[in-house]
Amino acid sequence: MSDQTIVVLDFGGQYNHLIARRIRELGVRSVLLPHDTTLAKIRKEYDVAGIILSGSYSSVRKPDFLSMDEKILFSGIPVLGICYGMQLIAKLMGGQVIPAAKSEYGKQSVSIKNSESLLFRGVGQKTEVFMSHKDVVDALPKDFVIDASASDSMVAAIEHVTLPIYGVQFHPEVTHTIEGMRMLDNFISLVCRASKTWKMDAFAEEKANEIQNTVKDEKVLLGLSGGVDSAVTAMLVHKAIGSNLTCVFVDHGLLRKNESDEVMHSLSGKFGLNIIRVDASDRFLEKLHGVTDPETKRKIIGNEFIKVFEETANKLGDLAFLAQGTLYTDKVESGTGASATIKSHHNVGGLPDHMNLRLLEPLDTLFKDEVRKLGLTLGLPESLVNRQPFPGPGLAIRIIGEITKDRLNLVKESDAILREEIFANGLDKETWQYFTLLPGVHTVGVMGDERTYGELIVIRAVSSVDGMTADWAKLPYDVLDKISIRIVNEVSGITRVAYDITSKPPGTIEWE
Ligand code: XMP
Repeated sequence: MSDQTIVVLDFGGQYNHLIARRIRELGVRSVLLPHDTTLAKIRKEYDVAGIILSGSYSSVRKPDFLSMDEKILFSGIPVLGICYGMQLIAKLMGGQVIPAAKSEYGKQSVSIKNSESLLFRGVGQKTEVFMSHKDVVDALPKDFVIDASASDSMVAAIEHVTLPIYGVQFHPEVTHTIEGMRMLDNFISLVCRASKTWKMDAFAEEKANEIQNTVKDEKVLLGLSGGVDSAVTAMLVHKAIGSNLTCVFVDHGLLRKNESDEVMHSLSGKFGLNIIRVDASDRFLEKLHGVTDPETKRKIIGNEFIKVFEETANKLGDLAFLAQGTLYTDKVESGTGASATIKSHHNVGGLPDHMNLRLLEPLDTLFKDEVRKLGLTLGLPESLVNRQPFPGPGLAIRIIGEITKDRLNLVKESDAILREEIFANGLDKETWQYFTLLPGVHTVGVMGDERTYGELIVIRAVSSVDGMTADWAKLPYDVLDKISIRIVNEVSGITRVAYDITSKPPGTIEWE
């Protein structure tokens, strides 16, 4: 009960964790609770400063619409309804919600109509927002006024004349709503008057306590990849339960050049973590022999990982939990929330039923940059914390077509050159991810006076904030030139280098 909290009631919308994350960014503790959590329970468990009603895939026009404890609306606690949240307020308080003439999706300009509104203080009279909805509020409930409207006179924001209840039809939490952070800050500062006391070390303490209460005296196994997510998970679980954590580092042979040794060097022994390295590279390569389909590759690697864990677990015996560094974005992209499956990220779910290990995923509400902050709070060095993200299936999904030792080597060597040059030119901080991949194309080249025939290497480098969207990185031409020359000269078997200039969307960061 220490920090004041903004409760986000979860109606299943796509951006719910993003709302909670924005509130944390503004310095206030935020939790996501089921939409039907009662006012009594909220009051009992939290020092609640305000309640946000999230968006939803549902519609208040359906007979079985997702509702809430209506007492919340009359409790005096400030409420902000976002999209579905606003429609729900309208519906429950006697207004009317109708289908929109057409579904709205994307940027739109809205005009602020109520210059007195605390929610819009300091916001431009006309401002760009992000809409994503199928319904609109047609008739306001009693005692509500319009705060903002869209160009087609659609109601874009409302507030109650006496109660601290606000609703916005758009999504202030996404970056496309240019002044969205100002609106959220106005809500928490001016409407809720919440104290901005929340810091990452509070999260670390809270999570460590939670882990302690869940795990008690039992033993935990953790798969360490050397990436930031699993390293931070390890540190957090270690903080909670100390030597009852055993880390297993599975070297599947699909890591970057020298990575396996670097991981052991930087983490083993340091920070008192107990790490067992299992060299399973031959085993993975054998399983992947002849496999070309990307989803099959992921499944094989995921399954093999689990098998190695299982075997190691059996040897260690006496284990109760498997800890994983799953992030919020991993879950969204794997379709565990309301959104569709884009890629099955190998580290999400997937535990066979017969394996009696329960899953511990303490980072699953966080975004990558939050995990980095948490890592620093826990004492990890900046070099590890700021490592670029690396996919669980490793280089396997950067080799289109069959994975052989030789092709693996082409990616490892070219990738090492790319990394060296990005570092040497001080571009590592501003580039979210940079790697090379083999698209499986053979091309003719000429070296000396000889015709060559080898593989094409593609450089992929992107800037991003959370991996959900990304822009291709505008690397300087002279750096690209140097990388290209070095790769073709130093990696035998590569005849040509291309640069991928596709953003996400419509592309994804990885090619498979
Ligand atoms: P995409 O390719 O989906 O990648 O745009 C978004 C981010 O996720 C990483 N990625 C993965 N991470 N297991 C992971 O742990 C996976 O199967 C996987 N696939 C993609 C990718 O490197 C990028 O950072």
